[in-house]
Amino acid sequence: MSKRLIVGVTGASGSALALETLRQLSRAGVETHLVVSEGAGVTIAQELGSSGLGDLTSAASLVHDPRNLAAPIASGSFRTDGMIVVPCSMRSLAAMAHGFGDNLLTRAADVVLKEKRRLVVVPREAPLHEGHLEGMLKLARLGAIIAPPVPPFYTKRETMQGMIEEIAARLIGWAGIEPGPEMTRWGEPS
Ligand SMILES: Cc1cc2nc3c(=O)[nH]c(=O)nc-3n(C[C@H](O)[C@H](O)[C@H](O)COP(=O)(O)O)c2cc1C
Repeated sequence: MSKRLIVGVTGASGSALALETLRQLSRAGVETHLVVSEGAGVTIAQELGSSGLGDLTSAASLVHDPRNLAAPIASGSFRTDGMIVVPCSMRSLAAMAHGFGDNLLTRAADVVLKEKRRLVVVPREAPLHEGHLEGMLKLARLGAIIAPPVPPFYTKRETMQGMIEEIAARLIGWAGIEPGPEMTRWGEPS
């Protein structure tokens, strides 16, 4: 069976990172199950334009309605290799930290945690207050990988798109997928 990952997209800033992550996973031959939160509609339109949602859904293998709590990814018996929540809003972060499976995205994340699969969370907010940090600590203690979208400046990528590619490559690596040529490795020829 090919690798299968859930990609959750929430209403935090960083929709371009979600799109690049989906595209890299597609090129890596990974079956992706996309769930876009209801809150993400505004940010996707704002940041990727009117075609943004369509671009995201075209890059995914399957798309699930966030209100459909009966989707396969809502159950631990459906096999996946984990989930990336990119970008992750503070609302969804708090919901995941406290086990609120109130929509398909947060339910799928809760399932990934309870099944001890990989959950890569990409929180986007600045600055962070104690509640945000407590949520991240709770999730880290539950086994999640907390991976804020921090640019690896040492790669000397000169464009925003280049940095987005580098960050997405790292995210898929943390999710257990071998990144492609977008990933610059320190000490290794590119
Ligand atoms: C343009 C725009 C940018 C936003 N950026 C962020 C952000 O970076 N981080 C965040 O936590 N919320 C951000 N928000 C607020 C979330 O979209 C909002 O809290 C929403 O309810 C999150 O819902 P969700 O977690 O279900 O997607 C932003 C909202 C808008 C309209």
